[in-house]
Amino acid sequence: MSNLIEVKDLKVHYPIRSGILNRVTDHVRAVDGVNLAFEEGKTYGLVGESGSGKSTIGKAIIGLETITDGQIFYNGEDVSGQARQRRSDYRQNVQMVFQDAMSSFNPKRRIIDIMSEPLRNFTNLTPAEEKKRAIELLEIVGLTEEALYKYPHQFSGGQRQRIGVARAVALNPKLVIADEPVSALDLSVQAQVLNFMKQIQDEYNISYLFISHDLGVVKHMCDEIAIMYRGRFAEYGNKQDIYQNAQHIYTKRLLSAIPEVNPNKREENKLRRQEIAAAYDESSPTYFDSNGRVHDLQSLSNTHSVAVSDLNTFGKEGEL
Ligand SMILES: Nc1ncnc2c1ncn2[C@@H]1O[C@H](COP(=O)(O)OP(=O)(O)O)[C@@H](O)[C@H]1O
Ligand SMILES: [Mg+2]
Repeated sequence: MSNLIEVKDLKVHYPIRSGILNRVTDHVRAVDGVNLAFEEGKTYGLVGESGSGKSTIGKAIIGLETITDGQIFYNGEDVSGQARQRRSDYRQNVQMVFQDAMSSFNPKRRIIDIMSEPLRNFTNLTPAEEKKRAIELLEIVGLTEEALYKYPHQFSGGQRQRIGVARAVALNPKLVIADEPVSALDLSVQAQVLNFMKQIQDEYNISYLFISHDLGVVKHMCDEIAIMYRGRFAEYGNKQDIYQNAQHIYTKRLLSAIPEVNPNKREENKLRRQEIAAAYDESSPTYFDSNGRVHDLQSLSNTHSVAVSDLNTFGKEGEL
């Protein structure tokens, strides 16, 4: 099957300026050589701690961030330039949902205007048709026509995120990048927003890039998961590979941090967490290079790869 979007050896480095001449003295290697391939209708998880480069990948794909090196292909065509140069087709088909819809919505505009904006930019609908489409979209995320004439602050956080999702799918995109879309919400509301996202995906065959700092949140959503550590991938695999058969110590640490809901397993989980915390060592040459970064990914199977120094010796030394 051919890939909808392919990201090849993507690097995004931010200059650090200093001194009285404000010269560029160094770079933050926010993203430093990652590869991703998106197939239609699948959900991809991008998980790592704060500052690991997740949002930068999302912004680079959508074109909000300049790429330092590497390429992005859309239906086989190189679209690596900045967003404004990217074809309107791409801009319609790749959309983003942010963690806090409040900050991405203009607070002075009503929901009807917020929902109509992408329609106005990319379609030739009449105002009556725009309104009809806006109502349809709100209904998809469980809101009614009444919402149209309200302002963003009149909704709860969960409702605003649902409006953000509705707006992102207004133009029937192929890929929606959701950057921590539920991280600011209560657990019960998180589940509700995720359910709407799943329903929409089933209906419209959208691919999601689902960004989260929490492996627990993406577990039920994602077909494939990338574990990100300091701008690089520590591990990549499907649900089974990551949740049942994690190989990188960093992945194991993230897994052990998922809160245990079963009270009978809490003690066991705590011991496991302590065991992994003791084994976790950023200077372990198996998992980290001399700069404390993860190695290049090496393939373990068709679906699973892990960043270790040497696959031949890996696993034979009694690693945790
Ligand atoms: N505009 C910027 N200028 C300089 N450094 C940045 C900028 N944006 C992000 N960074 C740095 O790049 C790294 C990755 O950031 P980000 O992609 O936001 O991580 P995440 O989304 O995983 O929390 C961090 O070290 C962050 O401080
Ligand atoms: Mg982020």
